[in-house]
Amino acid sequence: MYNLKVIISTVRPGRKGPIMAQWIADIAKQHGSFNVEVLDLGTINLPLMNEANHPRLKKYEHEHTKAWSRMIEEADAFIFVTAEYDYNYPAPLRNALEYLVQEWAYKPAGILSYGGVSAGTRAANSLKNDLMSLKVVTLNEAVNLPFFTQFINDEEQFTPNDVAQQAAAAMLKELVRWTKGMKAIREDKG
Ligand SMILES: Cc1cc2nc3c(=O)[nH]c(=O)nc-3n(C[C@H](O)[C@H](O)[C@H](O)COP(=O)(O)O)c2cc1C
Repeated sequence: MYNLKVIISTVRPGRKGPIMAQWIADIAKQHGSFNVEVLDLGTINLPLMNEANHPRLKKYEHEHTKAWSRMIEEADAFIFVTAEYDYNYPAPLRNALEYLVQEWAYKPAGILSYGGVSAGTRAANSLKNDLMSLKVVTLNEAVNLPFFTQFINDEEQFTPNDVAQQAAAAMLKELVRWTKGMKAIREDKG
């Protein structure tokens, strides 16, 4: 079993991020290859990056950074659940990425984006670009959900259409392959 961390990018009151994350986390659990944990930036509550040293040195001064480092270190794979704010991914996620360097490296990531007409794809593309600098390998297979609120009922249950279900299945299938491959790369110190 591999450790999969599903990361919620938004923190505002009334956000939909946790609903979307729970949906993909449940599918990932059913898949059977992953120990799944949801990491909610809304409750982890990192301040704006306030470490004195460059994160690549791992000389962390603050408990919140040490805890965040442990959470990401133990991951074998990620799914980023991203909203789109002003054509980009939300600032709390950018902040959370900035805190660490080595902990992210040589790990694969799927992206679930949600939004209006663009399905959060502009956010997803920006995120892909930034993850590359941290040596996170992002998958082609993605879940991009346009007008996603139509699938959320009054009880806050998310029931998407077949297209979304198939996209999620395809992303998870590919994520397992890349997780195996990237684990081999991490173990091979060159
Ligand atoms: C600050 C802000 C900026 C937004 N910008 C976009 C946008 O650029 N594209 C889009 O499709 N939706 C945009 N929206 C609408 C979001 O898709 C929608 O509010 C979604 O629920 C946000 O995710 P959250 O509920 O997890 O915060 C924006 C919402 C907010 C609060």
